[in-house]
Amino acid sequence: MLRLPFWLLLLASALTSQALPTLQPRDAYFASVRTRLTHDHGGKHRDPPDKYFHESTFHPHYDGRFAASKLPEDARKTALTALVQTYLSTMSSIGAETWIMHGSLLGWYWNRRIMPWDSDVDVQMSEEGMRELAGYYNMTVHTFDVARMEGEGKGQGRGEGKTGRRRSYMIEVNPHYTNASTADSHNVIDARWIDMETGLFIDITTLRRDREAQVKGYKGHMYSKDKHRILEDDIFPLRDSVFEGMPVKIPYAYAELLEGEYGRKALAKSSVENHRWDRERMEWVKIV
Ligand SMILES: *[C@@H]1O[C@H](CO)[C@@H](O)[C@H](O)[C@H]1NC(C)=O
Ligand SMILES: *[C@@H]1O[C@H](CO)[C@@H](O)[C@H](O)[C@H]1NC(C)=O
Repeated sequence: MLRLPFWLLLLASALTSQALPTLQPRDAYFASVRTRLTHDHGGKHRDPPDKYFHESTFHPHYDGRFAASKLPEDARKTALTALVQTYLSTMSSIGAETWIMHGSLLGWYWNRRIMPWDSDVDVQMSEEGMRELAGYYNMTVHTFDVARMEGEGKGQGRGEGKTGRRRSYMIEVNPHYTNASTADSHNVIDARWIDMETGLFIDITTLRRDREAQVKGYKGHMYSKDKHRILEDDIFPLRDSVFEGMPVKIPYAYAELLEGEYGRKALAKSSVENHRWDRERMEWVKIV
């Protein structure tokens, strides 16, 4: 572990302009990652001391170190699409094995897109992938021309704007990712892919082998720290597909997983959350 002189730690904690209850040299301080805000809107002060990630004071799906308020609905959709596109692209070039789950998988099932009423993106990662992120990519920043990606995602060719819009994303890995116990309930999220402009992020959870079950003779039992239990054969071998215009991996038994989680009717119901399914356009349309 890196040992910093005590006076430097004191200085660092003074700079964060918040009275810290204890010195926590392992935290990514607001002052060390901030982009444009002068005040931290993270909910650190009300979180338990052993919780690593802090959701913002104004909404649980935003990181308060980078944003001070929620986005309007349209801007949120655009930002969420860019978030998942840049995530998939980065993980694919890093070679970290990841796939979509839950609400994102349901969106994929209908039309290979995020459902318009979804406010987050759900992904999982293999244990090897998470070790790779933790060992070599923690706190790395990745910059993209998002206007161009948006254009490509919608199949409109190159982006509209003459000058592309650059946006930076950060990988942050929870040091508690090495604790495999679901009892570590304040740290069920192993890593985040964070949009440093809007504060939106993707929670990344590791799919772990249940070694205790293995010892008892049950093969292929897996779980994530947020207490989802899954059989290895339902996930692997992963299938190749497309999501929001980008190559993506999806679980092998996607239909069974979706039925198990949302019920059979979720795969057939054509009106939900104030939207109806338009078969011609292959799109969820808002009921007005
Ligand atoms: C990632 O970096 C942050 C900031 O330095 C640190 O607090 C955290 O413990 C690191 N995570 C891991 C897995 O090393
Ligand atoms: C994991 O976290 C739990 C809950 O905080 C704690 O009781 C346990 O000691 C931790 N295990 C390890 C190996 O750090």
